[in-house]
Amino acid sequence: MGKPLKIALAGLGTVGVGVLDLLRDNGALLAQRCGRPLEVVAVSARSRNKPRGDHDLSRFQWFDDPVEMARSADADVLVELIGGEDGPARAAVEAALQAGRHVVTANKALLAHHGVALARMAEEAGVALNFEAAVAGGIPIVKMMRESVAGNAVRRVYGILNGTCNYILTRMEEDGREFDDVLKEAQELGYAEADPTFDIGGFDAAHKLAILTSLAFGCEISMDDVYVEGIEDITLDDIRYARGLGYRIKLLAVAVDTGEGIEQRVHPTLVPIGSPIAEVGDVFNAVEVRGDFVDDVMLQGRGAGAHPTASSVVADIVDIARGIVLPPLGLPARQLQPFRKARMRAHEGGYYVAMDLLDQPGEVAAVARAFADEGISIESIVQKGRSIARVVPLREGEVERETAPFILITHDTQEAAMRVALARIVEEGHCVGTPRMIRIERFR
Ligand code: HSE
Repeated sequence: MGKPLKIALAGLGTVGVGVLDLLRDNGALLAQRCGRPLEVVAVSARSRNKPRGDHDLSRFQWFDDPVEMARSADADVLVELIGGEDGPARAAVEAALQAGRHVVTANKALLAHHGVALARMAEEAGVALNFEAAVAGGIPIVKMMRESVAGNAVRRVYGILNGTCNYILTRMEEDGREFDDVLKEAQELGYAEADPTFDIGGFDAAHKLAILTSLAFGCEISMDDVYVEGIEDITLDDIRYARGLGYRIKLLAVAVDTGEGIEQRVHPTLVPIGSPIAEVGDVFNAVEVRGDFVDDVMLQGRGAGAHPTASSVVADIVDIARGIVLPPLGLPARQLQPFRKARMRAHEGGYYVAMDLLDQPGEVAAVARAFADEGISIESIVQKGRSIARVVPLREGEVERETAPFILITHDTQEAAMRVALARIVEEGHCVGTPRMIRIERFR
C-alpha cells in the first residue's frame, strides 16, 4: 500500500459531509483501487460546532480560514466546496495552486468566471484542477468530455442541467399545479439554491453550460456569451398546449457550433414527447453529446444532492491518487481558441407562440399574414374558446375585449424573422399583452 493521499476539505455543508460519508463508508475499497489510502487531514468551515452527521471533526486539523489551510496544511489536495465565484473559494483555490497542491472543486460559478485563468495556474504548477461535481452533480460528464469522447470532433452538447427547474416543470405537468406553488415545495425539499432566482432564472444551468462548451469546442469559457431565459414565465397553459401538440417543456442548455460561431443558450424549450430528453423528469439531469464518430451519447442521473455530488468529488480525488493529471479543460489552456459567438438573431429552429388574440373576424388572417410576410411557415395552430381580457387603448379609457387563446408552432425559421413578425402583431393590436415565444428543439 502506498503512502496516503492527504486531503484538506474546505466547506462542510451538504456536499462536504457527503464526501466525509463516502470516504468513511468506502475507505477500504478506495484504498484498494488507488493503491493508497485517501485521508482527510484538515478541514475548514464557517462554523465549527454545527452538527455534521456522526463525523467527529476533532480527528482533523481545524482551520478557521480556508485560504490559510490551502496555503499551509500538510495536504496534497485541496477540496473546495465553499461555493461562490470570488471570495474565499477563489482565494483558497488560487492559494492551493500557488502552493503546488492539486485542487478538486464543485464550484461551477468559480469555473464559469475564472476557469481559464485557474487552468493556466494549475498547468504551470503541474497539478490537477478537477471539477466533475461542478457540472450536473453525480453525472460523470466532465470525464466523458475530457476522456471518453476525446477522439471525436464534438458537434453539439445539450442537456437538462438544473434539477430544480426540471422538478418544477415536471410537477406542473404531472400534478397540474401552478409555478409558485411548486417552487415553494422545491425550496422546502432543499433542491433550490439559496437564492432560487439562480435556478429558475437559468443562471445555474448557464454556469454549467459555459464549462461544457469549453470542453466540447476547445474554446475559452465565456459566461458572458450565454443567452439565458428562465422558466418564471412558463404557465400551466403553455405546458398543456405543448403536450397537446406532442411536446414537453424543459429548461434546456444547448451549445452548438453553427458554422457562424458557437450558440450557447439556456431557455425553456419544447422537446418532442418520446425523445430521450423529454423522459428525464423530476430532479434528474441529463446531458447528450454528439460526436462525429460516436454519434449521440447520453448520460442521465442525479444532478444534485450530498451523495451523488460526493461521488463525483471523490472520483476526482481518485484520479489524483492514481497520478492522473490532465489539462483541466481538455487541452492546454494556452491553446484554447477565443470564444466566437453566434448571434441569437441568427438562430434557426422551430417556435411555439401563445397569445391572447382578439376574438373578431380577420385576426387569425392578420397573424397568418404577419408570419407569411416574414417567410415563416406554420406547422400547427390551436385556437381555444373565448375569454375576457382587459386592454388599455392609447386614447380611450380602459375597456374589456373578448380574446381567445391562440397557439401555433412554426417550421424551422430564423429568430430574427420571428421577432419581426411578433413585434408587428403587437404593434397592429391583434393581441392583448405580449405573445409568449418558446423555442423548439427537434434534435435532427
Ligand atoms: N441547484 C442545482 C439544481 C444543484 O437545482 O440542479 C446544484 O448545482
